[in-house]
Amino acid sequence: MNIELVPLQVRGDERGGLIALEEEKNLPFKIRRVYYLIDTKPGVKRGFHAHKELRQLAVAVRGECTFLLDDGSCRREIKLHDPAQGLLLTGLVWREMFDFSEDCVLMVLADQLYDEADYIRNYDEFINIVNLQKEQK
Ligand code: TYD
Repeated sequence: MNIELVPLQVRGDERGGLIALEEEKNLPFKIRRVYYLIDTKPGVKRGFHAHKELRQLAVAVRGECTFLLDDGSCRREIKLHDPAQGLLLTGLVWREMFDFSEDCVLMVLADQLYDEADYIRNYDEFINIVNLQKEQK
């Protein structure tokens, strides 16, 4: 599965901590967009899509949430709860997010602007595209 948990260096001193994300240094892509999910209501599940090309790094800068990740062959759950840990999402990966804590702020850095055409929002279509890619390899 094309996912990786990346440790992010905390530059701290007695005043507190600081984490810097720099494109093509500790991020393997150029940042074209940043968005964050806030105030997610209890019991809500979000996501339910994959991306054709987009690369993203997700960080729970506050609180926690859980990702279900599915590459068409295996499924994996990852809990994000540490601002010093980034979840790198590349390639064809179906994602669902849930179990957001009340205080959760989930920040996402992306290498493309928002483009609905890059979304696969239907799971069956996602599986078809995964299978097509496998045949082409
Ligand atoms: P949506 O894709 O439903 O979020 P999620 O996959 O996290 O559940 O996005 C919610 C709304 O925000 C939808 O109207 C599209 C819009 N949106 C943007 O305008 N820009 C963005 O970068 C993103 C991610 C979403």
